[in-house]
Amino acid sequence: MTSRTDPHKKARRTAGVAVHLETEDFEDDNRSSRGRMPAGSGSEEAIHLAEKPDPAFEHSLRPVQLDEFVGQPKIKERLEVVIGAARTRGEALEHMLFCGPPGLGKTSLAHIVARAMDAQIKCTSGPVLEKAGDLAGLLTSLGAGDVLFIDEIHRLNKVIEEYLYPAMEDYKLDIIIDQGPNARSIRLPLPKFTLIGATTRAGMLSSPMRSRFGMLNRLDYYRPEDLQRVILRSAGLMGLEMDAEAALEIGRRARGTPRIANNLVRFVRDYALMRAPGERISQPIADAALRMFEIDEDGLDEMDMSLLRALILKFNGGPVGLNSLAVAIGEEPGTLEEVHEPFLIMGGYVKRTAQGRVAMQLAYDKLGLQPKPRQIELFE
Ligand SMILES: Nc1ncnc2c1ncn2[C@@H]1O[C@H](COP(=O)(O)OP(=O)(O)OP(=O)(O)O)[C@@H](O)[C@H]1O
Ligand SMILES: [Mg+2]
Repeated sequence: MTSRTDPHKKARRTAGVAVHLETEDFEDDNRSSRGRMPAGSGSEEAIHLAEKPDPAFEHSLRPVQLDEFVGQPKIKERLEVVIGAARTRGEALEHMLFCGPPGLGKTSLAHIVARAMDAQIKCTSGPVLEKAGDLAGLLTSLGAGDVLFIDEIHRLNKVIEEYLYPAMEDYKLDIIIDQGPNARSIRLPLPKFTLIGATTRAGMLSSPMRSRFGMLNRLDYYRPEDLQRVILRSAGLMGLEMDAEAALEIGRRARGTPRIANNLVRFVRDYALMRAPGERISQPIADAALRMFEIDEDGLDEMDMSLLRALILKFNGGPVGLNSLAVAIGEEPGTLEEVHEPFLIMGGYVKRTAQGRVAMQLAYDKLGLQPKPRQIELFE
């Protein structure tokens, strides 16, 4: 696996303040923990690449306006209303949080919101904000109505969090300067800004932090038909001619995730260039390309498959607790819960019950197994 960019390298230090160079985000940090294929697995590279964020590529495909943002109708409608209302009143937007699995569009939405408000956006990320001075520098550089985007906000350290609370609530920042007997606190008034937080781990956000957001938006996985629209749009931007059925085929295999869908389009493009040059991309071409890259027809990756195998073969189809399942497959319980489970639940492979996780009929079908009688009862 290739090494990932260190997010800290993207920040420039000016007078003790971490300032982000561009309005791009930190989406490629901390992802190596999601390199989760067993070593030597044949499909390791393909799936790893499919999930990998590529900032430059993503930037070129990122929707810039709400009407270009596919799917998530409830969130879009809410945003339209609050943006329209804030603009009508000439006020700053309330603070908002976007949460959901990687690659569903949290960063894209933060940029879309800022643009719709004609506001500047300053981007940073939880682990990058180390010192109160970093935060002070960012906050004081904002104008009225501007957006401060904090990615991975669940990784903010406690001290910074404490500074953020009065900044979010009362638009003021109390910072202590100097040390020892000379230490004194100064209060900086702040413009009315909007904090937009993004997290893949909403459960790890402290409740005081969560309660300070006026609007919580949980992004859902996309339906294949929605991904089909994302794919056709991206294909157009990449100058590819693609049939609607080909886009749907890719959409079905993209784990409900636009980032993966776009990365699969790249695989298909490369395959088509070498194996079917000059041809319009049809469903058979897309299918052949994805098969060559070992993308499962339902988009499941090795970790999903080993979760299903463990659930059925080791735990008799469940119910089994999250921690036992995580130990059985050597993955962090948090990653299972935030990254894998939602996709498997959405796909109807696994059910979350009060007693634990239970394998559904589709999981047995996927592995070519039959549920034992006791497990059949659980479905009823
Ligand atoms: N609703 C959408 N419509 C069209 N394209 C989308 C949509 N959502 C995401 N994308 C595409 O997927 C890419 C990844 O989205 P984005 O970076 O916003 O995800 P994210 O939720 O911030 O992921 P992470 O948790 O890894 O930071 C974007 O560059 C964009 O091209
Ligand atoms: Mg992001």
